[in-house]
Amino acid sequence: MYKLSPSILAADFAKLGVQMEETDRAGADYIHIDVMDGVFVPSISFGMPVIRSVRNVTKKIFDVHLMVENPERYIREFVECGADIITIHLEACRDIVSAVSQIKKCGVKAGIALNPGTPLSNLKYVMAQADMILLMTVSPGFGGQKYIESSTEKIQKLRELLEKNGLQTDIQVDGGITKENIRMVLNAGANVIVAGSSVFNGNITENTQYFKRVFEEYA
Ligand code: DX5
Ligand code: ZN
Repeated sequence: MYKLSPSILAADFAKLGVQMEETDRAGADYIHIDVMDGVFVPSISFGMPVIRSVRNVTKKIFDVHLMVENPERYIREFVECGADIITIHLEACRDIVSAVSQIKKCGVKAGIALNPGTPLSNLKYVMAQADMILLMTVSPGFGGQKYIESSTEKIQKLRELLEKNGLQTDIQVDGGITKENIRMVLNAGANVIVAGSSVFNGNITENTQYFKRVFEEYA
C-alpha cells in the first residue's frame, strides 16, 4: 500500500543507470520521472530518449510525471518508451476527462496532479477516473525546495473526499519530502511518496531503506 518513488531529477545524470539500480536494490517501489517542457514550468529536464535508455536498468514501475502543457500530445509516445503510470497536470489539459481516458486506453495507470494553489474541488468530475492523485507540495519545476506547510491539510481533505466517495485512490505527494516530515504526510493520508534530494543526496541505499523502514511502522 505504501510506495516509495525516488525522483531521478536529483540523481547524478553521469551515473543515472547505476544510481537507479542502487535505489531499486535498496527497496524503492517506483521510479519517479519528471518531464518538464519549459512552458508549463520554467525549467526543461529530459524526455523520451532518456527514459527509453534507462528502461532496461530496472523492472520497477516507471512513474512518469508530465509537467508539460497539453500533455495529450505525447501520451502514446511515453507509453511506448516505457511509462507504467502517467500523471498529467489538471492545469495543463484542455479536457482532463478525455486526457485521463486516453491514458487508460493505452493500458497504463493514470494520475492527475494538482499544483499547490489548485483547489480540490476542481477534481470533482474526474476524480473517480484517476488511479492516483498527485498533490504538489512545492511549486512544480525544481527539486530541492521546501515543503509547503499548508499541504498537510490538503492531503487530509483529499483523503476525506476520496473516502466519502468510496474511493481508495492513491495519494502521491511530491516536493520537499524529507526524513523529518515523512511521518506527517503519511499521517495525513498520503501513500505514494516521491523523494528526490532526500534519496539521491548522500547515501542512496541508506536513504531508501530509511523511508522503507518508516513505511513498516504504518503497515
Ligand atoms: C518538482 C518535481 C519533483 C522533484 C522533487 O517539480 O515534480 O518530483 O523532483 O524533488 P525533491 O524531493 O528534492 O523536492
Ligand atoms: Zn514530480
